[in-house]
Amino acid sequence: MTAPVPLLSVENLTITYASDAGPVQALRAAHLTARAGEVIGIVGESGCGKSTLASALINLLAANARVTSGAVRLRGQDILTLPEDAKRAIRGRHIAMVFQDPMTSFNPVLPLGAQLTDFQHHLPQTRAEKRTRARAMLARVGIPDPDLVLTRFIHELSGGMRQRAAIAAALLMTPDVLVADEPTTALDVTMEAQIIHLLRALRADHQGTILIVTHHLGVIGELCDRVYVMYAGQVVEEATVDDLYHAPRHPYTRALIACDPAHLETHTPVLPTIPGHLPDLTAPPPGCSFANRCPLVTSRCHTAPPPWVRLSDTQAALCHEVAP
Ligand SMILES: Nc1ncnc2c1ncn2[C@@H]1O[C@H](COP(=O)(O)OP(=O)(O)O)[C@@H](O)[C@H]1O
Ligand code: SF4
Ligand SMILES: [Mg+2]
Repeated sequence: MTAPVPLLSVENLTITYASDAGPVQALRAAHLTARAGEVIGIVGESGCGKSTLASALINLLAANARVTSGAVRLRGQDILTLPEDAKRAIRGRHIAMVFQDPMTSFNPVLPLGAQLTDFQHHLPQTRAEKRTRARAMLARVGIPDPDLVLTRFIHELSGGMRQRAAIAAALLMTPDVLVADEPTTALDVTMEAQIIHLLRALRADHQGTILIVTHHLGVIGELCDRVYVMYAGQVVEEATVDDLYHAPRHPYTRALIACDPAHLETHTPVLPTIPGHLPDLTAPPPGCSFANRCPLVTSRCHTAPPPWVRLSDTQAALCHEVAP
């Protein structure tokens, strides 16, 4: 029996950025799959390629980016090779994004009501009905006075309310895939908790897939079913959230978990970080990208690219030293 086509799949996706120092290899043969109803986490330190992957999903790559190989498939159709107008039709309507900076989602000089109505351009309802729907969605995301907020400009809202409004805007487009790139990173701890609570509540309403991009493991644990761990532009581990916390296999994943404040035995004044740095992505090492920081490194790790080793139906890792 053949497996059903996943809602979203990324295959062998390689993206470089032109720079003065040469092409930055921001994404190298990245891959993931997401089925309808799943909430997927993408986690890794800053600079690992998470936002590049997220931007590729909504076809909004920087002008100096180049896709050198691979595909992003929505229900099996490669959306990177579509003509520009077809790409635009997919953006928002089928795949919508919530950015770290919610201002990105809005026009600063238009009141929110007009924009939230426009975001529903694909729906058959009248403008008045769309405004009613916008008001209901603002209430759904926990905005206390939706009627007032519809008349406001985005800069008149607080940070937490802006992010709620951006989530409402994305949901009004009824996307199959909702991508949230560091949706809580710019918020204080209280606001972060509230937005996580909101996203958790929305999980139940959303029939499609939610992808949460974060450098914060706690967010993954709170929200996700499965996770892809990224390092230096590569997916280095795929796991369920349970395996991520209780049976991580890739040495990088293990190091991330060991640094997670939730896993520390005692409170230290300074949070531990993984010693060492990401490699230079204009000249990634020929072997494993994590070799210069890995406690399990052997000589072949410096010379041979590690294999993608399937450990179970739900877990796999890019490493010479793991075995099923
Ligand atoms: N427009 C750009 N031009 C050049 N390099 C970029 C650009 N955007 C991102 N990069 C580089 O690509 C790599 C991956 O970045 P990014 O996808 O933003 O990672 P993350 O979201 O995980 O922090 C980093 O080395 C970053 O400096
Ligand atoms: S391939 Fe080698 S260096 Fe890379 S993570 Fe595995 S053991 Fe460590
Ligand atoms: Mg980012």
